[in-house]
Amino acid sequence: MKQHLSIIIIGASGDLATKKIFPALFALYCRKLLPEPFSCCGFARTAMDVDTFREMLKRHLTCRYVPDEEECPALMDKFLARCFYVTGQYDLHEDYKRLADILDKNEKDGLSVTRIFYYSIPPFLFIPVSHSLKQAGLTTDIADKRLNRAVIEKPFGRNRASSDRLTRELATVFSEAQTYRIDHYLGKEVIQNLMALRFANLVLEPLWNRVNIAHVQITWMEDIGVEGRAGYFDAYGIIRDVMQNHLLQMLALTAMSEPLSLNPEYVRDEKVKVLRSVAPVTLNDIVVGQYTGAEYKGEKRRGYLEEDGVPPDSITPTYAAAALKIRNRRWDGIPFLIRAGKGLNDRKTEIRVVFRDVPANIFGAVSTPPDANELVIRVQPDAGISLSLMNKKPGLPMSLHKTDLNLSYADVFPEEIPDAYESLILDVINGDKSLFIRADELAAAWDVFTPVLSELESCTIRPQEYPFGSEGPRSAVALAALYNTHWR
Ligand SMILES: NC(=O)c1ccc[n+]([C@@H]2O[C@H](COP(=O)([O-])OP(=O)(O)OC[C@H]3O[C@@H](n4cnc5c(N)ncnc54)[C@H](OP(=O)(O)O)[C@@H]3O)[C@@H](O)[C@H]2O)c1
Repeated sequence: MKQHLSIIIIGASGDLATKKIFPALFALYCRKLLPEPFSCCGFARTAMDVDTFREMLKRHLTCRYVPDEEECPALMDKFLARCFYVTGQYDLHEDYKRLADILDKNEKDGLSVTRIFYYSIPPFLFIPVSHSLKQAGLTTDIADKRLNRAVIEKPFGRNRASSDRLTRELATVFSEAQTYRIDHYLGKEVIQNLMALRFANLVLEPLWNRVNIAHVQITWMEDIGVEGRAGYFDAYGIIRDVMQNHLLQMLALTAMSEPLSLNPEYVRDEKVKVLRSVAPVTLNDIVVGQYTGAEYKGEKRRGYLEEDGVPPDSITPTYAAAALKIRNRRWDGIPFLIRAGKGLNDRKTEIRVVFRDVPANIFGAVSTPPDANELVIRVQPDAGISLSLMNKKPGLPMSLHKTDLNLSYADVFPEEIPDAYESLILDVINGDKSLFIRADELAAAWDVFTPVLSELESCTIRPQEYPFGSEGPRSAVALAALYNTHWR
């Protein structure tokens, strides 16, 4: 049945809206993946008329999916003609009435409509915005006429209690079925491929357990500092910003068991099950660090405490490494070593599965012992998958050599890879919730880190310093050594 789609972006003047959400919508439009008819409406406090708003959006649109470059300007204009803007205060329901008027005007008479409210605002505004939307009568579903969905960006709370409070408050406005909690890492192609890699191949599953795997490393590192986000970052820190969400989601997809089917509820059931099996992190399992000023790549880089907007006595960690233990039959005794940091010497996100050593080494007399096999899932940069294998080095003596089977996405899939937001927004439009965080999943993820966050903060534990552009604090090396390994 033909329907109208209205996408309402609250906080439309911000970075996320202008640099990610609208460009993703335009990319979907270029690929004819947006249902017709559709319209978008931005809402924010910044006073601007619709032409200024469209000009601002235009600066960030690209025609990646348009083969004929000459078509691009006309397509942009057609898309922008469907974009509107309302200036208003987030907590004034009267201002949302003006939004409602524009929506009603755009939505064609006689068609049922799906409205998607995308919260692209700082989290302290989630509740006031929800209540104002409700007061303005915008959140009520009308059978066969109007369906509403809300998209919420992380961070979802600061700990288990505040996250539960947020969930409860939002549930008074949007039901769980209407709520889409986004973790944009789940929209990344390589992360989505984890399900295919693990469950569409026969060879991995028999090995995917404590018998064959020695440990798993999940790494997220950046060689930049907080880059203008100091205010937000200092209030949250790396554990809340990256570990509790992106890294735990990667861990869940790596460690979960096969779902009954791709039904979103079955997928999320398995993720919840594995997250609930993760033992809460203790102070013995974690190392926290903070970068200090240093020269990196020929440039003097500021330390975290010298960044604009960071209090000089801040103990917010910019680095954390932790050993997570999953208490279930598949993984008992196998550490999942996860680390995330800013101001490091590399930029990469990857999952590295390190297999056990080959038993009864028969090569000892003629060669160095074989290295353990490693399967590396590279999320960024250079998305891909590699598997290290031992081979005989060509030549007369028997000598072992480690080589990689390497699948680089850029080589194998030359077509344009969709941005995570394109994939996730399309799922919201289609009502597919597999890649969104369910309330019980969010609670289970907070349970892993809430106790240690509380201890770190109540005991004012000072992070260990590490120079900008280094590998991170020294104690992280010691943490890995406790598990007889080193960070790769
Ligand atoms: N940027 C990203 O890539 C990214 C990634 C993951 C998650 N997120 C999350 O997505 C949300 C939006 O991100 P963003 O980077 O676009 O944020 P942002 O630029 O800081 O904020 C978005 C808009 O909210 C309004 N706003 C900001 N601070 C406010 C304040 N103190 N009081 C009232 N209004 C305020 C501003 O609009 P007006 O002044 O015009 O009202 C701003 O344009 C945040 O929750 C963020 O944590 C962002």
